[in-house]
Amino acid sequence: MNLADAKAELAALFPQGQPILAAVTGWPLAYTRSPILHNYWCAAYGIDGLYLRLPLAPERFETGVHALQALGFAGLNVTIPHKEAAYSLAGRHTHQARRAGAVNTLVFSPDGTILGDCTDGTGYLDSLDQAGITLPRKTLVLGAGGASRAVCAALLDAGCDLAIANRTRSRAQSLVEALGGGTVLDWQEWPEALASFGLLTNTTSLGMAGQETHDWAATLALASSDLVVSDIVYMPLETPLLAAARARGLKGVDGLGMLINQARPGFAAWFGHEPQVDDTLRARLIETID
Ligand code: ATR
Repeated sequence: MNLADAKAELAALFPQGQPILAAVTGWPLAYTRSPILHNYWCAAYGIDGLYLRLPLAPERFETGVHALQALGFAGLNVTIPHKEAAYSLAGRHTHQARRAGAVNTLVFSPDGTILGDCTDGTGYLDSLDQAGITLPRKTLVLGAGGASRAVCAALLDAGCDLAIANRTRSRAQSLVEALGGGTVLDWQEWPEALASFGLLTNTTSLGMAGQETHDWAATLALASSDLVVSDIVYMPLETPLLAAARARGLKGVDGLGMLINQARPGFAAWFGHEPQVDDTLRARLIETID
């Protein structure tokens, strides 16, 4: 059966209209919380939609994406290791995707073009906003890996005075050059400089379940009492850094808000409704973490 006949057959199965389809793809896609998020919102808003988990090996990524587009999917989330490949595949990019040099959200437009977006940075800023944080001017980001770039770009674009510290200094330097802004702080020196910052963001794997950690209590002792501490890691939900911040009486923001908020633009584009973050959704995700 050719594609046109298959699509006509599929349409006939849904006389009231086909469900909207979207999916997350990555490799290996051992566990992803994205289906929980999107299917929760579809149910909450009475949307006839279905969000699937579709592992795609790197050599099948491009053809797989085009096949899903041809079958009528509305779009995809893209995770490791496909974020750069998704950037190359998209014919159009949002400002945020260009700044991040990566794409985590693909939107299949009715005209056949594919829009690439990167929602990690705005998801991060939204998570601070929902935690009632007013973005301070002076911000320090720890880490210069893939997860750091979108966050750094968003902070710079929001007008922050950004410093980046990374164990391997050259990666922080490359990031500053790629973003055209920010300064590099030496990994050995950032603790002593901490008192001058209003926001500390950890994007490294320090403190992630099963990974090394750091003597955060000693470091945070050097911070000003209004420092906001955030960790984009959400496994565990309260990372050693956030536990140390709480012990010191500092405001902390966990990584769950970023996970939820990075999903919102894709949902709005595919399913046609601006989703809201609520406590039930947060609780449902927390059940999957503990
Ligand atoms: P991701 O895409 O999740 O950011 P990554 O590109 O591997 O993953 O980056 C991991 C980040 O954690 C890097 O900034 C890394 O520092 P290096 O660039 O020096 O590797 C940082 N990191 C990992 N383990 C660390 C440790 N023990 N101490 C300090 N930083 C660490």
